[in-house]
Amino acid sequence: MSAHEHHLKRLNELFAEELEAGIRYLHLATSVKGLDRLVVTKTLLEGMQETFEHAQTIAERINQMGGVPSLDLKLQLPPQKISGAEAIRTALAFEQAALDAYREFCDEIKDDVALEEFIREQVGVESQHVAELTLLLEE
Ligand SMILES: [Fe+2]
Ligand SMILES: [Fe+2]
Repeated sequence: MSAHEHHLKRLNELFAEELEAGIRYLHLATSVKGLDRLVVTKTLLEGMQETFEHAQTIAERINQMGGVPSLDLKLQLPPQKISGAEAIRTALAFEQAALDAYREFCDEIKDDVALEEFIREQVGVESQHVAELTLLLEE
């Protein structure tokens, strides 16, 4: 596999990861029970919006690089009634996973400065998400 093909494969993985996060955000936003709904629903729906935008940006990048966005999702979300804090903890876990994936990819890119720049920006954005969610969990 050439470096270029490898990059496209990685981008497709990130595309799937962002879409999955968007679906998870929607599920979380609609699973919170009680008064916590007033506190976290808006934040979770904003998270959904942003991750779908990230997915779209990555898909466009794949197209620009001559690839074709593909998607292989295996996602099962059980019925659940959760607290606001549980929802934020869950979101933090998959935002952290996304950040790790972007970081890892960033370290692998040696030969494509533009792509590296793009992924580095995403590392910045995802770092902020993780920091914001972490603040919400402070006691
Ligand atoms: Fe994202
Ligand atoms: Fe994010």
